[in-house]
Amino acid sequence: MSSSAPTLPLLDVRPPADALRDEVLSGLRDTPKHLPAKLFYDARGSRLFDAICELDAYYLTRTEEAIMEAHAGEIVEVLGPHVLLVEYGSGSSRKTRILLERLEAPAGYVPVDISRDHLVRAAERIASAYPDLPVLPVCADYTASFRLPEPDGHVRRTVVYYPGSTIGNFTPEAARGFLARIARQVGPDGGLLVGVDLKKDAARLRAAYNDAEGVTAAFNKNVLRRINRELGADFDLDRFRHEAVYNAEEGRIEMYLVSETDQEVVVDGVRIAFAAGERICTEYSYKYTIEDFAALAAEAGWAVERVWTDDDRLFSVHYARPTREP
Ligand code: AVI
Repeated sequence: MSSSAPTLPLLDVRPPADALRDEVLSGLRDTPKHLPAKLFYDARGSRLFDAICELDAYYLTRTEEAIMEAHAGEIVEVLGPHVLLVEYGSGSSRKTRILLERLEAPAGYVPVDISRDHLVRAAERIASAYPDLPVLPVCADYTASFRLPEPDGHVRRTVVYYPGSTIGNFTPEAARGFLARIARQVGPDGGLLVGVDLKKDAARLRAAYNDAEGVTAAFNKNVLRRINRELGADFDLDRFRHEAVYNAEEGRIEMYLVSETDQEVVVDGVRIAFAAGERICTEYSYKYTIEDFAALAAEAGWAVERVWTDDDRLFSVHYARPTREP
């Protein structure tokens, strides 16, 4: 637990530490090896991710922000009044301000994030910037089920805001299951506002995940540092390197940590062997066309009603409504 005392009613439903151990060990014992992408977001990883969002090469964040700014009026109009805005993976809640500044009488803001201290700080900043807005932070792994807090006032529509193209970090199959769960969570009157990175020139994609400053490499390696700290492992970070490749067939960036040598690592008493060149997959980042994303959403019970994009069609923001009773 951190020493920062939240002044907001924080709902803390983080999974137990055992769950992390089991996930890490089963991923490292698998062939090929893999680790869950949510491991990135401890306090240091969340700061590194914020630094990635500022990089020239990482066009996603500034393009999505520009789309949100350019179309903010229309977006809040389709959301309507008395919205309970639930943000999954809220991080520093930057893009959310574009909505919060314009929403008509919002019923509340529920930032949901796995990184507790980051969440609390961001939620406190939002609460002091918008004193009339009920801010109800939830510390949770939002890929699992959890109950939403209920604000005191009238809620006309619960809208999940899922910016940043984090939906791309799920396989399409997992994304379908996840989107279907959101449809059940928001109910038939709900909505989904989701940022989706688009397919484009492979060189541009590779550059976004292989920045010259080495921030993405540090973000990737931070996973090993975290496993060392939280699971008493002995990864030598200098014996792994960052690699990000674009798999055009699958339409995804694949991020790896590559073992530089033959080596053995002990994770919570369990020996894991690595051959030189062996890779741990730490993340997929799928890229979609607008049509492909709408088709995937439809399979999960959503009808995309509006899509906003930038002039260069680098990124897209979709607003969808549930198509069937949960
Ligand atoms: C959070 N997510 C959308 C980022 C992405 O682009 O897939 C995570 C990231 N990985 C490397 N750079 C950024």
